[in-house]
Amino acid sequence: MMKKRVLSGVQPTGNLHIGNYLGAIRNWVEIQKSYENYFCVVDLHAITVPYNRDTLAENTYTIAGLYLACGIDPQYSTIFVQSHVRAHTELTWILNCVTPINWLEGMIQFKEKAIKQGENVSVGLLDYPVLMAADILLYDADEVPVGEDQKQHLELTRDIAIRVNNLFGSKDNPIFKVPEPLIRKEGARVMSLTDGTKKMSKSDPSDYSRINLLDSPDDIRRKIKRCKTDSIMGLSFSEDRPECNNLLSLYALFTGKSKEEVAAECANMGWGQFKPLLADAIIASLEPIQNRYKEIMKDRGYLDKLLQEGREKAEAVANATLKRVKSAFGFLPL
Ligand code: TYM
Repeated sequence: MMKKRVLSGVQPTGNLHIGNYLGAIRNWVEIQKSYENYFCVVDLHAITVPYNRDTLAENTYTIAGLYLACGIDPQYSTIFVQSHVRAHTELTWILNCVTPINWLEGMIQFKEKAIKQGENVSVGLLDYPVLMAADILLYDADEVPVGEDQKQHLELTRDIAIRVNNLFGSKDNPIFKVPEPLIRKEGARVMSLTDGTKKMSKSDPSDYSRINLLDSPDDIRRKIKRCKTDSIMGLSFSEDRPECNNLLSLYALFTGKSKEEVAAECANMGWGQFKPLLADAIIASLEPIQNRYKEIMKDRGYLDKLLQEGREKAEAVANATLKRVKSAFGFLPL
């Protein structure tokens, strides 16, 4: 039986945090043997907001290195850099011409990022979800494993695919496969350590709001020690205790214990007893990733070769799809 295909990506905007890990990469690792996988470093997305050109290439290596360190295995998964496969930008242009502008203006992430940025919002930021749709549709992905914040972008991808199929395809001969989101229940929305009602985010100005995959044990202890809590006795998973809910969920995810086990274990604990346990669990999970990462980053030649091979494999699939699309849109063939 043919394996189903997945595609996903992470932006090379600095370090990854445990939200990116639990919401996305850890799940990619878990499912990779049962799927045909394409994981890209989405550097073209990273330039949709003001960025530092001196660190873009290095950050791209970092994300590729972290994919490997987290357990993405090149035997099962193709790792590549988005900007290395030109079909992504070309398909974006074509999709731009069939995507109504008001579909993009309504995107939550666009509105949030645009408000943060004030005056200088680029066309690229508005177009971000179309580039993401191109990433996914080029690979005929069946499923897209992401965190919950990407759900709306995936709905847009589906809408674009359906629109193109209606405009240029037929029922028996659709142009695009309409992909399904793959969003896990646990870990899909890790919250900030300084405000349990906000999502953990790379762009939060305070580094205390997140734990980065490459944070030292001391940093992790310090951040957990300082993180926001409440003053209710005993710890419980409860809707009206956002910080407590988040920290207990992290404890469950990093120890592999079930929610019920954690609820029973922590029911009579205070924060002073719980916080060191949580810090230890996170440190123990991240340590092997950090050690592998250090090894991987020593050998840039290996990374370059891997990304080159990834590009070749990705390009073969992407170019075939682009050819199909251009033919359906009526372009004069090369
Ligand atoms: P990015 O780089 O912002 O996030 C990468 C992945 O991490 C997930 N994530 C979270 N999950 C749980 N809790 C959090 N606090 C949290 N923060 C981030 C995101 O949902 C994402 O899965 N637009 C995408 C990148 C992208 C992409 C694609 C993804 C570009 N093209 C094609 C899938 C398919 C993004 O924002 O990545």
